[in-house]
Order: sequence, then C-alpha cells, then structure tokens
Amino acid sequence: MPEHILVTRNFQYPDQPELKIALSRGTYEQWKRILSEKISPEDIINEVKTAKLRGQGGAGFPAGVKWGFVPQDTPKPKYLCVNADEGEPGTFKDRALLEKDPHQLLEGIAITCFAVGIHTAYIYMRGEFYDPQRIVQKAIDDAKKEGLLGKDIQGSGFDLEVIIHMGAGAYICGEETALLNSLEGKKGWPRLKPPFPALVGAFGCPTVINNVETISGVPHIMNMGGEAFQKIGTENDGGTKLFGISGHVQKPGLYELPMGTPLKELVFDVAGGVRDGHELKAVIPGGSSTPILKPDELDIPLEFEAMMEAGTMLGSGAAIVLDETVSIPEVFMVMSRFYAHESCGQCTPCREGCTWIYKIARKIYEGNGVPADLDLILDLAPMLDGTTVCPLGAALAAPAIAIVEKFRDEFLGMMKN
Ligand SMILES: Cc1cc2nc3c(=O)[nH]c(=O)nc-3n(C[C@H](O)[C@H](O)[C@H](O)COP(=O)(O)O)c2cc1C
Repeated sequence: MPEHILVTRNFQYPDQPELKIALSRGTYEQWKRILSEKISPEDIINEVKTAKLRGQGGAGFPAGVKWGFVPQDTPKPKYLCVNADEGEPGTFKDRALLEKDPHQLLEGIAITCFAVGIHTAYIYMRGEFYDPQRIVQKAIDDAKKEGLLGKDIQGSGFDLEVIIHMGAGAYICGEETALLNSLEGKKGWPRLKPPFPALVGAFGCPTVINNVETISGVPHIMNMGGEAFQKIGTENDGGTKLFGISGHVQKPGLYELPMGTPLKELVFDVAGGVRDGHELKAVIPGGSSTPILKPDELDIPLEFEAMMEAGTMLGSGAAIVLDETVSIPEVFMVMSRFYAHESCGQCTPCREGCTWIYKIARKIYEGNGVPADLDLILDLAPMLDGTTVCPLGAALAAPAIAIVEKFRDEFLGMMKN
C-alpha cells in the first residue's frame, strides 16, 4: 500500500466497522496513548497545526488554528459538531468514511475533544444517510462498552458523549451556522458571523465544527507526527485528500491522493481519462459550487491556494468530468435550478438572485434566450457575492460567471437571434 494512503487504509476490509477488528488493525491506539502518556491538549493542537491539516468540507480553514480559537477558560460547556451533511453535488467521500471506517472517525472525535476540552460531540448527518447512521451508532455503542467513549474513559477521568443528529436533507444545513440552528431544533437558516462558532456556537457555547474527513485525519497526525503528515502534501496543505471523481472518465471512484497532486493526473492517470472514443469538454473540479475549467486549464495542483489562483476552488474534492456529449447550457440550467431550490430564502439577493439566474438559464436552455441574457447573468451574479448571510448565493454566482464566460459561444449557438 502506498505510504500516503491514510484515511482509506482500511477501506478494503468489509469487517473494519467491527470494533475488535478495528482494534486489531491499530484503531484507537493513538487515543489510548494520549490518555496513558498524558499528552497535553496543547501538544495535540500544536501537532495538528504543524501538520497543516486543512478543513476538508470546502473552505480549507486550518483545523489546528480553528481549535486554538476556542477559549480554554470558559465556564460554558464546549461542543464539537462533525459535519456529515455531505450536500455538495458530486461529493461522496464522507459517506464512505462513515460506512467503511466509523472507528477511525470516532478516534478522531475523541482526540479532537480531548485537545479542545469538549465532553459532548454531535455528528450532524444528512437525513438520507440511513446506513451510515446505523453503522456509526453501532460503532459508538461498541466503543462505549469497551470504555473508549463515555464516562471516565480508560480510567483517565475524561468523559465524552457522542450523539448522532439526523438532518432532514437540506443543502443549506451543511453550512456551519445553519447546521447549528438545525441542531438546536430551529429552522436551518445561517447565522451572521461574527460571532464565529468557536466563540458562540451550539446553544450559545464555544463550538468546533469540522468535516468528517478533517476529523478522520487526526489519528494519522498523532501516529506519524505533524511534520511527516505535512510533508505528504504541500507547504500549506498537509497530508492527503479524498477525491471523488465522477462523470465521463474510465474509472470513476474515490481516490486518496497527496495534497498538491495535479488535477491533470487525477483525471488522466488515476481515473484513466475520458471514456473511449470521446473528448474532454470540461471539468468541474471540486463540487458544483466550484467554477468550471476547460481542458487546457487542468495543469494545476489540487491544493486550496493554487486552485483559487487559477480562478476556481478545491472545494470538497469532487471532480465532475464532462465529455463533448454534454450540453453546457443544460448543465447550467440544472445547476442553477439546484441553488434556486436550495436557497433558504433568508436573504433577498440569494433568494431572488438564484431564482433569476435559474429562470434565465432555463429560458436559454428552452431555446428562447437572447444574447443580452448572458450579459444579464454577468451583471446579476456578482450581486449574490458578499451581500448575504452565508455563501450559498456565491456558490452559484462564481460558477455562473465562469460557465457563461468560458462557453459563451455554445450558449449563443442555442439562440435564434
Ligand atoms: C451552502 C453550504 C453548504 C455546505 N455544505 C457542507 C457539507 O455538506 N459538509 C461540510 O463538511 N461542509 C459544508 N459546508 C462548509 C461548512 O460551512 C464549514 O466550512 C465546514 O463544515 C467546516 O469544516 P472543515 O473546516 O473541516 O472543512 C458548506 C458551506 C456552504 C456555504
């Protein structure tokens, strides 16, 4: 097995969710070591900072830095919310981590909570995740019976409850502050930031929110050391990332690769390139909210900053590959319909803007568009960025601008005049 394979290391074994088996393969070793060797929370946070572990939910915020924002001396309880909403179209990595290696995630949760001084962790799971819920709940129950979670873990005096909270299936509830409102039983509307969740989060208390993949990486940092983890990736993006590649490639699937692997390599070498007899038309690199790339734009490293410099985003690492049979105006219509449907309606620019972009996209797709519609999209889209409580509007705006600018001729070709 290549050295860089970390979070998917045990994906090949169908019995990995069984606690005894997971223990025999080394899961919970770092958690037990931290408790028995009395490793300090500060040392764990420093190790995660050195590792340059970035948030894998889309925004790429450094995890150790985020944990460091949580006040240590507060009288309030603190919470961890693991974001298992996985709503970004094209993304299918967190479900795999939950189903195939739930104890890896639980070990990551335990280490994170110990480092930040948290005694209650929630796993906020999307409503459709019936199997992951069942598998992870069994893993929690088994780990509790084994004294790895629950009260006075391994006689250390440290308590930790892990609770699964099922969402109702709304894309917006993956946004961290909407997730908090939903967790509290309120309507899943985002909150204004600041205050940031690290200070005022769940139930008004300091809260760490991290993606499933981010937390699953933590035991590996403690195992190999922050420096070795960082070196697998690039200077600012340590370790590996799970890339879910779908669409018109020979070998669609989930691949764990070092951060910084060229996108070109993912598409052509790892996923085998475009299906036989077809030509590459475009790649949406990191889930539907990341701006589209043309075939000559793929020579970029898959890391947060480099992707932004190239005018797109790493996002959730979900690459969608489109060949020449795909109609880009249809992709745009379907994509904007999704955001118009999923906008929570709290902010006018997003509620109205996403709907208008969808209406224009549908008009063009149905053959009733005029060239001025394209300029209208380019005028309208920037109004959704920076004017709203959360970035859902921007998640349509940036891809809309890119798709119209890069495929203008194809859109014009669908118009009668
Ligand atoms: C509209 C929207 C949807 C989101 N959906 C998810 C999601 O399904 N899963 C996720 O981990 N992060 C999602 N995020 C990002 C979260 O707000 C947050 O940045 C993330 O959970 C933090 O964890 P990380 O630092 O480990 O990435 C979403 C953001 C937005 C704006």
